[in-house]
Amino acid sequence: MEQIGIAMIGCGTVGGGVAKILAEQQERLATRCGKTLMLRRVVVRDPGKARPHIAREIITTDAKAAINDPSVSIVLELVGGVSAAREYVLQALAAGKNVVTANKHLLAEHGAEIFDAARKHDRVVAFEASVAGGIPIIAAILQSLAANQITGIQGILNGTSNFILSSMAESGASYADALKEAQARGYAEADPTLDVDGSDAAHKLAILAQIAFGVTVPFAKIERFGIAELRAMDLRFAHELGYTIKLLAEAWLDGKEVALHVAPVLLRHTDMLAQVRGAHNAVQIVGDAVGEMMFQGAGAGALPTASAVVADLIDLAVGRAQRTFQAAKLWSANARGFTLRAAEGVRSRFYLRVLVRDIPGMLADVARVLADHSISIASVIQHEALEEHSEQVVPLVIMTHYAPTGQFRAAVKKIDTLKGVVPPGVYYSVDD
Ligand SMILES: NC(=O)c1ccc[n+]([C@@H]2O[C@H](COP(=O)([O-])OP(=O)(O)OC[C@H]3O[C@@H](n4cnc5c(N)ncnc54)[C@H](OP(=O)(O)O)[C@@H]3O)[C@@H](O)[C@H]2O)c1
Repeated sequence: MEQIGIAMIGCGTVGGGVAKILAEQQERLATRCGKTLMLRRVVVRDPGKARPHIAREIITTDAKAAINDPSVSIVLELVGGVSAAREYVLQALAAGKNVVTANKHLLAEHGAEIFDAARKHDRVVAFEASVAGGIPIIAAILQSLAANQITGIQGILNGTSNFILSSMAESGASYADALKEAQARGYAEADPTLDVDGSDAAHKLAILAQIAFGVTVPFAKIERFGIAELRAMDLRFAHELGYTIKLLAEAWLDGKEVALHVAPVLLRHTDMLAQVRGAHNAVQIVGDAVGEMMFQGAGAGALPTASAVVADLIDLAVGRAQRTFQAAKLWSANARGFTLRAAEGVRSRFYLRVLVRDIPGMLADVARVLADHSISIASVIQHEALEEHSEQVVPLVIMTHYAPTGQFRAAVKKIDTLKGVVPPGVYYSVDD
């Protein structure tokens, strides 16, 4: 049977999972591709580490030799980070190799350069594992839903944040305690910054925006808010109002404009996304023909992510990836005419929590500022005084009707300057 030679650069969590599937399921994979997938070289930093499922003699630190090995036709980039990964991918394409990567950070920041290089060298970059791990969302949008114009995407795309939010909501834990638990269970890195500040979800959203709308979004232009500032009291107040707070990556098409953001958002308890617990990922897609659909599953982890990487290998082996790649024209000048809508212009309902000193007239003052900015109030709840404040400070929770984000933010800025208000006012959008 014909063999397909693979060089795998990086053999950590994901690479280890890929090696396991390739070793243990060789027969199954051969039946599905009509070819044998053979690991020829495995490039790592430390060749002395134990690497199950991998013959010692194919382990190397020489990426260049692995990429240029004539028996290799596919290079797997499973290193992570941007700088070295970018070099390896560009070298592989220039050497005439197809590439499979799980690296969202790399594609979000250098997608245009990498895809241009692939087209120049008539090669393919496959990247199913880069968004939502084991969930086949890239293939779903590019292939199975190809008859549709996607009009909306909402995703829980970062398992670490979802785990933290779930444990804060379910056990009342503080953010710091929930993060510690996530780290103890191996869901969060020692430095969880990219996970909890919304950057990781924004990298994935940039990729989804590319495949669903053909827009190349400079990463810095995706407005993102994380969960590190989220207070347990806001989860509690939202819960009382019938909402769950989730870190969502969202993209909506309205006319010719696409609005994108990553932020904590209030969802009704009954919303399917509100019910996604723990470290799971989920993506809800709206297509103009198919309507609404939801994908849920493991967004990370060795085998779930390797499941997506190996699917890309099979697609390359049978020639499907080559055809999809050619047709999709990703990160090319072939934009579909959609432009980015500035966050300020996006209309939303809002949850606003303001801490005010317990003196008469505060509610009227806050309501007046909102009215001055043409923002109407749907409901107001004044809560008990907070124990953690020495003086009498009470949280005022206001749900608004729809308003442009820019107008609402201007109102909050003004509210923060009111005498008797303890700034900053905290707000999240509400998806109803
Ligand atoms: N972990 C997940 O669940 C998951 C899910 C979806 C996507 N991804 C993506 O998959 C990629 C890999 O993630 P991972 O979690 O598997 O990473 P990891 O566990 O940190 O493994 C990284 C691997 O790359 C090797 N490496 C690092 N720098 C290198 C360099 N300059 N040259 C050659 N090899 C180098 C390391 O070698 P040593 O072993 O010698 O240290 C290690 O084997 C990342 O882009 C990540 O975002 C991961």
